Amino acid sequence: MCGIVGYIGTRSAVPVVLNGLRRLEYRGYDSAGVALLHEGQITVVKRAGKIAELEAALRTSIPECTVAIGHTRWATHGQPNESNAHPHMDCRNEIAVVHNGVIENYAALKRKLHDAGHVFRSETDTEVLAHLIEQFYVRDTNLEQAVRRALTQIKGTYGLVVVAAREPDKLVVARNGSPLAIGIGDNEHIVASDASAIVEHTRRVTYLEDGEMAVVTCGSFSISTLADVPVENFVQELTLNLQEIERGEYEHFMLKEIHEQPDTIRNAMRGRLIVEKDEVKLGGLDHVRDTVLGAKRIVIVGCGTSWHAALVGEYLMEQIAGVPVEVEYSSEFRYRHPIIGSGDILFAISQSGETADTLAAMREAKVKGATVLGIVNVVGSTVARESQGGVYIHAGPEIGVASTKAFTSQLTVLALITLMIARAKGVSREKLSLLVRELHELPEKVEQVLRTSDRIKEIAQKYKGATNFLYLGRGANFPVALEGALKLKEISYIHAEGYPAAEMKHGPIALIDEQMPVVVIAPKDAIYEKVISNIQEVRARKGRVIAIANEDDHEIEHLAEDIVRVPRTYGFFGPIINVIPLQLLAYYIAVARGVNVDQPRNLAKSVSVE
Ligand code: M6R
Repeated sequence: MCGIVGYIGTRSAVPVVLNGLRRLEYRGYDSAGVALLHEGQITVVKRAGKIAELEAALRTSIPECTVAIGHTRWATHGQPNESNAHPHMDCRNEIAVVHNGVIENYAALKRKLHDAGHVFRSETDTEVLAHLIEQFYVRDTNLEQAVRRALTQIKGTYGLVVVAAREPDKLVVARNGSPLAIGIGDNEHIVASDASAIVEHTRRVTYLEDGEMAVVTCGSFSISTLADVPVENFVQELTLNLQEIERGEYEHFMLKEIHEQPDTIRNAMRGRLIVEKDEVKLGGLDHVRDTVLGAKRIVIVGCGTSWHAALVGEYLMEQIAGVPVEVEYSSEFRYRHPIIGSGDILFAISQSGETADTLAAMREAKVKGATVLGIVNVVGSTVARESQGGVYIHAGPEIGVASTKAFTSQLTVLALITLMIARAKGVSREKLSLLVRELHELPEKVEQVLRTSDRIKEIAQKYKGATNFLYLGRGANFPVALEGALKLKEISYIHAEGYPAAEMKHGPIALIDEQMPVVVIAPKDAIYEKVISNIQEVRARKGRVIAIANEDDHEIEHLAEDIVRVPRTYGFFGPIINVIPLQLLAYYIAVARGVNVDQPRNLAKSVSVE
């Protein structure tokens, strides 16, 4: 969602901050701003829209400075306009604040501050922080003391950076529930909500924990708790690679990430799938192995694409390992007062590891005594830290807002967990051996599908003008239909629905006419004939069938208007292959419609508000 960058050092601060904000663009935002300190004054420049607008505004009449903070905002409280954009200032323009998160008690605080004479210039929750700090920033108090006192009155989540005109030699930063890292350079520091804004300047970082704040100057920083107890800092080397967060030869990050999938699937299996021994080793589950194997049932939660992965996980774990599985939207989980407790496992799936709904579900399950495990991409993220164990998917940074490579890596990890359980539960060696081989061969099969990109591009051109799409699949390919529809909605703004193919006749069939493209995932598996019957039903109503079918399927040629060929694999691993053409179809349709594929409207990469 929102992004924060701050710089203090000896270089020109604004270009560093702007560049950092650009690195955070992928998180999704609708306005941007910077505050810079110069000769004892703070200048704030903000714009609604893209960073390019802000950059243009900054080109005119901006003084040279070595301290600046910046922000990209994804609107929660108040419209995405200039006055609601961050940084926000106090009444006297002496304090500027950038903030990620939500101040839950802002309305009550705003009333009090207003009654005390403070004048507000925005509708945001964040502006309350600036005025609250002002309230405490009296003579003989320094900025950190004022921030500390203000934060004791705050209920909610924050990652924030504050500067004051009176103390131009420091940034004060704080964290509660919203990530904040300090990059340590040579006589300079870069603070940011995401390491991708730091990595091109330094690889040395320290992360604040919840309830901590820091005073950052050119040459040093000191971390303490909100109660002013000093905290020893733990400096880490970033493993992130600059190349991983750059587009390279690709037109969009999404396309790059789709094409990375053979490698990311391999990375998810590397060192874990021991083909010679038909064995799976998952270090992050070693200490909870007995609990996992003895679980009465497994509950999997996630949102969006991660929820679709969970649905495939349900098929994998139930059908191969014989464990009862329930899947729930993270956002619904705690509100239905779930019956969960000791002896149950809750797997939380999250690419970003910062999704607020998923964190809330995990906390609920933990309180009720379940063992909470994570399947996460971002190392060190909140989901990872709050899990009692888990498995990283190792997909590398996913920059495109539409999740692609994370999905196939999540499925790969779910398949590995399934095989680990199945082996321990005594599934025959012959079957296990077949599954291990099939899994091992998946990256090459994904490569084969990627080679059909040109064909998919042609299909995209043909259907780019459609206003609705239906996606149908059965069994483990039903979640793939959901995922295909979500991808199309997100980046092309075409209305699309995913359905279990047989469910179509119970309602959605009313929508089918000669205008309606219907994407059917039809691999030659045990329910192929049933899917063919569903295709016939679509054809009988003049629907236009686009089939995702196996290479040796000739029957489909008489039924589908367009076909994308995919190699065969073991049925429950099919989603890993079958989703690739759907990702490409959504991508090429969106490009053909001229949509900003990597930053579609209204969407954020990590949804850190409930
Ligand atoms: O980071 P998470 O996996 O927890 O994110 C969950 C959803 O917000 C995410 O999958 C979203 O639906 C994507 N935009 C899908 O492309």
